[in-house]
Amino acid sequence: MSAKLLEGKRGIIFGALDENSIAWKVAQQANEHGAKFILTNAPVALRMGAINKLAEQTGSEVIPADATNMEDLENLFKQAEEKLGGKLDFVLHSIGMSINVRKGQHYTDLNYDWMAKGWDISAVSFHKVMQTAWKLDSMNEWGSIMALTYMAAQRTFPDYNDMADNKSYLESIARSFGYHWGVRNKVRVNTISQSPTATTAGSGVKGFDGFINYADKMSPLGNATADECAGYVISMFSDLTRKVTMQNLYHDGGFSNVGVSDAVMAQFMNNESE
Ligand code: NAI
Repeated sequence: MSAKLLEGKRGIIFGALDENSIAWKVAQQANEHGAKFILTNAPVALRMGAINKLAEQTGSEVIPADATNMEDLENLFKQAEEKLGGKLDFVLHSIGMSINVRKGQHYTDLNYDWMAKGWDISAVSFHKVMQTAWKLDSMNEWGSIMALTYMAAQRTFPDYNDMADNKSYLESIARSFGYHWGVRNKVRVNTISQSPTATTAGSGVKGFDGFINYADKMSPLGNATADECAGYVISMFSDLTRKVTMQNLYHDGGFSNVGVSDAVMAQFMNNESE
């Protein structure tokens, strides 16, 4: 393998649910690159048990934490520093969930209790994670904090529902908190805006199969896979990207800058000649 980009670095990885999860791939690659880390997920997700396999593979420990619960987060960060033997160099927030999406509630008929819960889990939790690390002074200088997002924050994808609003909020938190982290600790904060990816969270979106194929046909380089996303996250945790902060970074094979592609146009041209 090439150079180990994360040798000597310590971190926390949120959101590895099963082997399709983007966070799962990040954990595998972080391990290959020499990092030591704690895996964490909501207690209810841990009951599935898959994460233990990943912990074994990567020689890491699992500490449960509901990312909306400040006590859980405080315990997580304190224990992580203790078990890993020092302050942290990276944190990955790979968390998302909308009850309205899950229950098929239309955007024009949202259940606001569900909306508030989904917003807390998918967006505010990023602030909670950072505020916890901030108050405990858990991050080393030149550390890197990342969250994952989707382009529905900028452009409308009707079936993405209230997750679009959650992602906008999440990206804004990255900029707002990124400022303070930069000034106080030289820590960078960014979001990666990833192609549609076949995971539990992704596949929950209505019409996902059509959606993922469309994105693939629109992207000059094709959709980015979960493994490729993990590679980008590793580069953002490495010392090669120290001055990148407060950015929303597209990792989508070019999708976000394409108006229309030949492959998509071809579908319409065919229809026209029928
Ligand atoms: P996933 O379903 O494998 O991961 C979502 C994770 O969020 C799960 O591990 C789940 O247990 C965790 N989670 C939910 N509630 C939680 C809570 N209260 N506390 C702590 N953890 C909680 O799916 P995926 O796709 O790997 O999602 C990771 C991130 O990537 C999410 O932010 C998602 O929105 C984002 N993303 C996904 C895309 C896709 O098409 N799959 C595209 C762009 C971004």
